[in-house]
Amino acid sequence: MQKIDPHHLPGHIAIIMDGNGRWAKQHAMGRIRGHQKGAQAVRTAVTACRELGIACLTLFAFSSENWGRPGDEVNALMALLADYLDKEAPKLQKREIRLSTIGDIDRLYAPVRKKLLDVKKLTQSNDKMILNLALSYGSRDEILAAVKKMLADSREGKLNPDAVDQDVFGRYLYTRDLPDPDLLIRTSGEYRISNFLLWQMAYTELYFTDVLWPDFKKDDLLKAIAAYQGRERRFGLTSDQISGRK
Ligand code: IPE
Ligand code: IPE
Ligand code: MG
Repeated sequence: MQKIDPHHLPGHIAIIMDGNGRWAKQHAMGRIRGHQKGAQAVRTAVTACRELGIACLTLFAFSSENWGRPGDEVNALMALLADYLDKEAPKLQKREIRLSTIGDIDRLYAPVRKKLLDVKKLTQSNDKMILNLALSYGSRDEILAAVKKMLADSREGKLNPDAVDQDVFGRYLYTRDLPDPDLLIRTSGEYRISNFLLWQMAYTELYFTDVLWPDFKKDDLLKAIAAYQGRERRFGLTSDQISGRK
């Protein structure tokens, strides 16, 4: 097992869970089987983060662009999400994990949306970890919706345009209650962001692995955290300035 420093953990880990389709192809299965295996990897990752004491885990589960996939795949992903919520709700509650979402969840199929709202409500007072699912999420849409809402608030006299700064803008985003991610993991060897958390990842450490999401295990998570712990986050300052602060 990979060793990590338990005192220097990323507070917020975000994961682009990619490669379910290619995993299925490698195993001569249909894409939907790949997504089913991917759901198992979600369980593993949530359990591992909870055990490690990660405060917030954001999982990119379905993008606004993923609506363009074949109808049977979209249907299967919605069904899988519903099934995940049914099975995991008691476990989330038991482990004191709060479920939250980012994205346009009004677009999700009505029964899934209802389950999500139910599980969010059930787990709303939990404070051991936040499991934040990005569903029907696209960062450009999120930013545009924030701008539109700010313009509307300004017209109604609720927002002074001169007072708009990074904090105010951040409060108009889906992530208003969450810290920015410290570490982004993308699986499956793709080196892109795919419209995920563009504003929030200004200073996130990026980690890419060739492992396909259904194969992603606790040790892969530990490797990503170990890589994060080997980085120096400078936020535009010099190395001397950063070490002087420690
Ligand atoms: C990620 O796996 C899951 C979703 C995007 C819903 P993919 O389905 O994108 O897998 P690949 O990229 O085709 O291998
Ligand atoms: C990003 O993966 C979205 C999710 C993991 C949910 P995609 O597979 O949709 O991304 P692209 O199309 O390869 O950029
Ligand atoms: Mg993909």
